Amino acid sequence: MFDKEREAIFDALAADWSSLPGPPLAAVLELLEGLKLEDKVVLDVGAGTGVLIEGGLRQRPKKWICCDISSAMLAQIEAVWSGNPGVETLHADAHDLPLEDNTCDAVICNSVLPHLRNRCRALAEFRRVLGVDGQLLINHFQSRSRINEIHRSSKHPLLREDLLPPADVVAAELLELGFEILQSVDSEERYLILARKPE
Ligand SMILES: C[S@@+](CC[C@H](N)C(=O)[O-])C[C@H]1O[C@@H](n2cnc3c(N)ncnc32)[C@H](O)[C@@H]1O
Repeated sequence: MFDKEREAIFDALAADWSSLPGPPLAAVLELLEGLKLEDKVVLDVGAGTGVLIEGGLRQRPKKWICCDISSAMLAQIEAVWSGNPGVETLHADAHDLPLEDNTCDAVICNSVLPHLRNRCRALAEFRRVLGVDGQLLINHFQSRSRINEIHRSSKHPLLREDLLPPADVVAAELLELGFEILQSVDSEERYLILARKPE
């Protein structure tokens, strides 16, 4: 399974992506603070142009794997980070990760969830690659209504349907898949779900 339609859309968007305002470094540091990533293997799913990398590396993870369906997005990460042995790129679809079971300590999905066309399958993949005690962080630095407003006005018809569901819907799916929910925020400022693989 490789989402060719979104691959083409995001490949086309990649050139302009890094000129869009990303989250401030302080916000990224605050987001990742609680994850305790030192010496950990982190999978940054839908990494885009790598807005989380600088903040993430401050915690000295063992490995920061940037996975994306768009090779054009990953090329931008490589242009900046290829000299850093801790940063790897992985051209893959989140629904079908070419990673062994139990090999990641944290999976981070920043601004990606609405684009996953079979969300439950992707969430199950995240659980599969996480080790016991591994954490899944789903985040948007804006509210669900703002994200959905932006997507509904996309020039790409496919992305207009990429809508973010209420956090309690996703939390229920995660519980069903055997995750434990540590935090769930679906407010006017923020959308965040933090879950843990208990066993
Ligand atoms: C809105 S961008 C967010 C990029 C980055 N995480 C950020 O916060 O700037 C969504 C990213 O998810 C990627 N993506 C979409 N569907 C994907 C999938 N099925 N598997 C992996 N990456 C995917 C896109 O190529 C794009 O780079």
